[in-house]
Amino acid sequence: MWDYSEKVLDHYRNPRNVGKIDNADLIGEAGSLACGDSLKLYLKLDGKKIVDAKFQTFGCGSAVASSSILTEMIIGKTLDEAKQITNKDIAEELGGLPQEKMHCSVMGHEALEDALKKYYGEDNIQEDLPQSADKIVCTCFNVTENQIWEAIKVNNLKTVEEVTNYTKAGGACGRCKGTIQDLIDTYYKAENKTEEAPVTATQKILKISKVIDQQISPELQKDGGDIEFVDLEGNKVKVRLTGMCQGCKNAQMTIKSFVESILKDKVDSSLEVEQI
Ligand code: FES
Repeated sequence: MWDYSEKVLDHYRNPRNVGKIDNADLIGEAGSLACGDSLKLYLKLDGKKIVDAKFQTFGCGSAVASSSILTEMIIGKTLDEAKQITNKDIAEELGGLPQEKMHCSVMGHEALEDALKKYYGEDNIQEDLPQSADKIVCTCFNVTENQIWEAIKVNNLKTVEEVTNYTKAGGACGRCKGTIQDLIDTYYKAENKTEEAPVTATQKILKISKVIDQQISPELQKDGGDIEFVDLEGNKVKVRLTGMCQGCKNAQMTIKSFVESILKDKVDSSLEVEQI
């Protein structure tokens, strides 16, 4: 027997906002009867504000509770605010769900996302997902690569079993488990790539010096000027302009922005240039 919170039991026994909105402005669907759970979410708008929401669901008690709480969470919110809601928020609002039932919160989020796609367009809803065409990974439950990717990202999932709990993928014949593991590995490999090793002050000075010598100085020399790297203090790069650059104030301002933008781009976005 699953261990349900009081709030889950309350929303299961007394679901709010059950039914259909005949003239709904947006409708979102998730799941399918063939897979055992399905949800249809209806939204009524006043401008960008959600003034009413109703749902029809087929599924277990957690699916009913997740759909019910979702309608309460979005009524009164703007579409932009609703767009920020994740499956994690739905589960938290319910006081938690058993791990094996987390897929119900995911279904609620997917129905909301499906409705919002019709307003914002697909690309603006799933902006952080891989750009390749979405592919079905689990044919037993009709779960796509993007759905698995999003569940991993939002819920920090690390194992195939966790992905199964959150999306159902892998929960029947198991043929897709290898692909799910590949997606987990790819996600965390990509994450680690963005965590760059910290750069020491000496390494930074060497990098600044190299960029100035090899990229900035040759450009200024074309117009009869030049630049000399003097020092780095905190994030302030102290430079001295020489040649034709020295005399003209406007030219100095332009050169300062030019040097700063290259150093920000090539070395560190926090750098500022100071002429001495
Ligand atoms: S293909 Fe995923 S469980 Fe069968």
